[in-house]
Amino acid sequence: ISLKTYNTFGVEAFCKAFLNIAHEDQLPILFKEGVFSSDFFVLGGGSNVLFTKDYNGLILHIENKGITHFIEGNFIYITAKGGEVWDDFVQYCVEHDFGGVENMALIPGTVGASPIQNIGAYGAELMNVFYSCRAFDTTSGEFITFHNKDCQFTYRDSIFKSRYKGRFIITSVTYKLYLHHKINSSYGAITMELQKKGISSPTIKDIADVVSHIRVEKLPDPSTIGNAGSFFKNPVIPIITLKELQKKYPDIIFYTVDEDHVKLAAGWLIEACGWKGKIEGNVAVWKNQALVITNLGNASGSEIYTISSKIMNDVYKRFGLKLEREVNIL
Ligand code: EPU
Repeated sequence: ISLKTYNTFGVEAFCKAFLNIAHEDQLPILFKEGVFSSDFFVLGGGSNVLFTKDYNGLILHIENKGITHFIEGNFIYITAKGGEVWDDFVQYCVEHDFGGVENMALIPGTVGASPIQNIGAYGAELMNVFYSCRAFDTTSGEFITFHNKDCQFTYRDSIFKSRYKGRFIITSVTYKLYLHHKINSSYGAITMELQKKGISSPTIKDIADVVSHIRVEKLPDPSTIGNAGSFFKNPVIPIITLKELQKKYPDIIFYTVDEDHVKLAAGWLIEACGWKGKIEGNVAVWKNQALVITNLGNASGSEIYTISSKIMNDVYKRFGLKLEREVNIL
C-alpha cells in the first residue's frame, strides 16, 4: 500500500499492511490477535514524519472522530477523539467561544498527535491547555489515562517521544479551556498584524484569523507543496554558549528559556549558512522560512534526509551547534 497521500511531504513509500482505526474498541481486539508483537507504526495526519524507505510493518491510521465537552466554573473540559484534525478542533473551539487554542490555529496534524511533541506556535504551547489523554498501551492491552504531569512536557517533547516512544496510541485528548478568555497577542508577528488591521482588543477569533494569515504567508501549504513544518527544533543552549556566539554573531536571534538557557532561532542559523531558498534536485529549503524543507514534486524521503544532514553539518561547522530533527524519521 502506498503511503504517498498519508504523509504531508508527499514522498512515496510502501508499507506491508495498513489498517484504519475508526474506533478505539478495535485496539484491544488487535492486541488479542497479537498484532502489536510485530512492527507497527501509528500515523495521524502524517505531518511530522519522513519516510526514507518502505515500512516493513503495519501502519495504523488513526481516524476516530468526535468532540464532547462540559463546563465547570470558568473552565471547559473538552474531549476530542485522536483522529480529529487539529485545526478543525481549533475552529470548533473558536466557534463555540472556548479560549486557549486559538494561537495554534492551522498547525497540521491530528488531536491524537498534539501531545506527543507538545505542539506550539505564536506564543502558545499545548502543555498549557492539556488536561489529560486516554491512551492504549500496546504492551499490556489496556487503556491508561495520562494527566498533564505524567506527560513530562517540555519544548516539542513529551514522554510519548522519549521513554514511551512507540508504545502508546493516544485515542482521545481532554483540554482545559477558558470561558473568560486570556488573550495572548504578545508574539511579535501577532502584535504587528493586529496593529495593521487596527484591532486593539482582539477576540479569540481575531487571534485565530491573524495566526492563520501569518502562517499562510510564511509557511508552504502541505496540500500543494510537500513539507512537514519545522524540520528541526530550535536549539536550547546555555547562556555562556550564547555569549561566545554573540562575539562573532551579534545579531543572533534568541529567546530566554530560564535563568541559564536560551533558545536560538534555528531558521536564522540555517539562513546564515546560506540555505534559505536553496534548491538541490527535487528539494528546496523554503524561501520564507529556512526551518522548513519542501518536496518540489518528485523528491524521495532519502533525498530530503540527505539535505537535512548537509544543513546540520553546515550549522555545526559554522556555529558548533548540533541541530536536532523535529520530524520523525522512518
Ligand atoms: N528567522 C530567520 N530566518 C528564517 C526563519 C526565521 O532569520 O529563515 C528568524 C525570524 O526572523 C524570527 C525568528 O527566526 O526572528 C523566529 O522565526 P519564526 O517566528 O518564524 O519562528 P520559528 O522559531 O522559526 C517556531 C516553531 C514553528 C511555529 C513558529 C511560530 C519550532 C521548531 N518551530 O518557528 O512551528 O509556527 O515558531 O510560533 O519551534 C512547527 O513546529 O512545525 C512549526 C512550524
